Amino acid sequence: MRGNLKLHCCELHGLWKAVVLLVCIGLAIQIFGINGGKRLKSSTLDADGERGRACSPQTHIVFLKTHKTASSTILNLLYRFGEARNLSFALPRGYQLGYPKPFRAVDINHYSRGRNVDYHIICNHMRFHHGEVEKVMPRGTFYFSILRNPVTLAESAFTYYKGSSSAFSKVQRLEQFYRDPWRYYSISETGSHYARNLMWFDFGHDHNANVTEHYVAAVLKEIEETFHLILLAEYFDQSMVLLRQALCWDLDDLVTFKLNLRSNKTVSRLSAETVGQIRAWNALDWSLYLHFNRTFWQRVDRYGQERMRRDVQILREKRQEMMELCLQGGQPVEAAQIQDKNIKPFQYGRAKIMGYNLKPSLNNHTRERCVRMVMPELQYKDLLATRPSYSHVQRLVVNLGARSNQTESSRNGVTQGSH
Ligand SMILES: *[C@@H]1O[C@H](CO)[C@@H](O)[C@H](O)[C@H]1NC(C)=O
Ligand SMILES: *[C@@H]1O[C@H](CO)[C@@H](O)[C@H](O)[C@H]1NC(C)=O
Ligand SMILES: *[C@@H]1O[C@H](CO)[C@@H](O)[C@H](O)[C@H]1NC(C)=O
Ligand SMILES: *[C@@H]1O[C@H](CO)[C@@H](O)[C@H](O)[C@H]1NC(C)=O
Ligand SMILES: *[C@@H]1O[C@H](CO)[C@@H](O)[C@H](O)[C@H]1NC(C)=O
Ligand SMILES: *[C@@H]1O[C@H](CO)[C@@H](O)[C@H](O)[C@H]1NC(C)=O
Repeated sequence: MRGNLKLHCCELHGLWKAVVLLVCIGLAIQIFGINGGKRLKSSTLDADGERGRACSPQTHIVFLKTHKTASSTILNLLYRFGEARNLSFALPRGYQLGYPKPFRAVDINHYSRGRNVDYHIICNHMRFHHGEVEKVMPRGTFYFSILRNPVTLAESAFTYYKGSSSAFSKVQRLEQFYRDPWRYYSISETGSHYARNLMWFDFGHDHNANVTEHYVAAVLKEIEETFHLILLAEYFDQSMVLLRQALCWDLDDLVTFKLNLRSNKTVSRLSAETVGQIRAWNALDWSLYLHFNRTFWQRVDRYGQERMRRDVQILREKRQEMMELCLQGGQPVEAAQIQDKNIKPFQYGRAKIMGYNLKPSLNNHTRERCVRMVMPELQYKDLLATRPSYSHVQRLVVNLGARSNQTESSRNGVTQGSH
């Protein structure tokens, strides 16, 4: 079953292609819609997982890719899963879906209003807007995202966005900013979201809102109702185990190498005083993180502590195996040491982003697999955008609904650099 259903249709010819594709897609949506008719509460999803073998793999996915939260590593596993199964991605024209503006369906490359094709996966950077996402993703889609402790996130954001945030650019050091943020920060200046409550912003909410109990509770409730699972960067492996269960995928699909990783040299230590100031300044993100830290561990309890420990162990062994298979030296290296430009990560801000060298002796098949494990997100997006199945589906989409063509081609948003 799965996505193959739809793609066998692509081999037919002529007008029938369009008709048959539509029928197949309708069918696929029904099938996935039923199994995934579970826009259910998390507890019911868990119950499904327990029944185990009966579940079928989820292939309709919204991943809200938050900034500086290990989300590039998750993007990689979604790309690999989707590529291997010919799933359709709602890709941006450049590398982000309209960010930092709130997402709109027309931010998707080749999007046509009124078309009848649903995407499987949407996962590039966006500022979340539920109504617009619902226009392109079918019912039964699985929504998830990832959070990180706002303190370490702030440290990472400072290094990375020093040049993109007007507030950060006015200071030399992070401590200087957090000692007296209002002196440098202005709501209206560019990149203010990088300097305050970045996750709150990415989820589509007002990062400058006053912190009242009522407001915070309302936003948390909304997020809980929309997202089926919220992962934590600090507990990445446990997160992968929960994600595997929720998606009903194989554990092998969740094996990743860390991507977009900063070199130790550009990570700085923070005093207890600065930590307190960061929490206070990012109070909305702090409440977001504390809340979903609580629900995360409740999920782990339901999963079973012992079972979690065992599955994390298995995941780590699988990762170790892959690293030994693929990697020269078994460790990430600085970008300057990577010769192959296909796997050399994009560098931004003051951060030094690490990458990997592959073993030179790999046979073609293994090399293909390994390259994808380490391929940075920009290169991988470019690769997906050129695969035959993608352009084929996209051509069809354009032919079927060639209406809003003009508005689209006039907006060409290539906004690199803040992933
Ligand atoms: C927060 O509250 C202060 C004072 O109560 C008010 O001046 C300010 O406009 C509020 N900010 C926002 C974003 O609502
Ligand atoms: C970073 O530093 C930690 C200890 O400070 C060390 O264990 C780790 O291997 C280092 N990572 C890299 C990529 O150099
Ligand atoms: C998150 O929850 C765990 C488990 O309850 C706890 O040990 C940890 O301190 C929490 N993290 C924060 C930042 O409160
Ligand atoms: C491996 O790939 C290279 C270049 O892509 C190609 O020339 C070669 O024929 C391939 N070898 C095998 C055994 O497929
Ligand atoms: C994916 O699509 C391409 C081109 O349409 C086709 O050649 C390939 O066999 C498909 N792969 C799978 C796994 O369906
Ligand atoms: C739509 O725009 C694309 C380029 O973005 C162009 O190649 C195509 O011919 C246009 N189609 C129509 C029907 O105008």
